[in-house]
Amino acid sequence: MAAPWLLLLLLAAPGAVQGSGCRAGARGAAAEGCGPTGLLLEHSFETDDNVHFRKRGSLTWNVQDGTITLTQRQLTEDERGRLRDVAALNGLYRVRVPRKPGAVEGLVAAGHVSSFVPACSLVESHLSDRLTLHVDVAGNVVGLSVVTEPGGCRGHEVEDVDLELFNTTVQLQPPLTAPGPETAAFIERLEMEQAQKAKNPQEQKSFFAKYWMYIVPIVLFLMMSGAPDAGGQGGGGGGGGGGSGR
Ligand SMILES: *[C@@H]1O[C@H](CO)[C@@H](O)[C@H](O)[C@H]1NC(C)=O
Repeated sequence: MAAPWLLLLLLAAPGAVQGSGCRAGARGAAAEGCGPTGLLLEHSFETDDNVHFRKRGSLTWNVQDGTITLTQRQLTEDERGRLRDVAALNGLYRVRVPRKPGAVEGLVAAGHVSSFVPACSLVESHLSDRLTLHVDVAGNVVGLSVVTEPGGCRGHEVEDVDLELFNTTVQLQPPLTAPGPETAAFIERLEMEQAQKAKNPQEQKSFFAKYWMYIVPIVLFLMMSGAPDAGGQGGGGGGGGGGSGR
């Protein structure tokens, strides 16, 4: 009775060890229990170009089905004024998210990933931006990008009411699959080599076929020097006799 539970525990263990939950895109029993995780989205725009991150909104990343949603409040009058000032000074608008989802606010050991755009482009896009979170298979955020739509600054006048609500598209960029071994190229090369061998019958000849020109003379030599051996004594004697006749 205890065995199935033990097995389940063992199956669940790798996910628990990973801390930040299950693998991105993981499905089935092993992925159960790792629901949506939260990520704090922060921004910074200061007239003196210092960096001072404050909360902009909360991202909810559902690792299992690979979706991400963002809830964010509207900018206060104070913030709208500051954003305009930073834009006029050609300053930067920065965003950041923690690398590890689910980390407690203010207790982010793994650090952040961040990105920025010119503040004027955020103003002129009426707070329309696109955030892309690049994630790895272990469920960490490895990169963040922000673009405004439209991008760039043309010096357009912007009404205050257009700076109240963010119009944000947020998307996940899962890891690209690593290049596999080039099996096809390897097989092609093997086939080419085999075709080469077939075209070149020299290589497929047997040992005898290759070396007959050396073997045949040796055999012939042995035969010629061996065959007369039986009557060789008589022949030799005759020769000797002839020599003495001179
Ligand atoms: C929101 O942003 C999209 C582009 O991402 C843009 O086409 C649309 O007009 C924007 N809406 C508002 C109300 O600004």
